[in-house]
Amino acid sequence: MPPDDGLPQGLPSTSHAIIDLQHQALFEAAQQLLTHDVNDHDRATVLDDYRQFRCLTLANFQYEELAMEQCTDPLAEEHRKAHQRIQEQIDDVFNDAASFSDLIAVVRTVMNNWLPNHIDRYDMALIERLEGQRE
Ligand SMILES: [Fe+2]
Repeated sequence: MPPDDGLPQGLPSTSHAIIDLQHQALFEAAQQLLTHDVNDHDRATVLDDYRQFRCLTLANFQYEELAMEQCTDPLAEEHRKAHQRIQEQIDDVFNDAASFSDLIAVVRTVMNNWLPNHIDRYDMALIERLEGQRE
């Protein structure tokens, strides 16, 4: 049965509507990239899709980093650095005009390992702090 929050399986919900939507959009952009066949792809389309994936990631990080400024989150600095590290990985393959398989490897790493762990460790804590601030 699909989860009620509409999030894809494996992506934990933060209970923050905008951040969940951003994570979902990221997931969909990643899925789109993974539909390309390694042996039969149009590089311009793959790069366009990768550019979209990169923009959505940046938008999510910027949104969360603005939210960090609205509360006291002891993990904020670590959280920012985690964003920076993954952004560098995403940018590195983009800037180096890397091979299709390099791009896909980064997308898979982000979606399967990095994002779910990152949400659990940092995004959840940020939302708790934000919610606490409102009460
Ligand atoms: Fe984050």
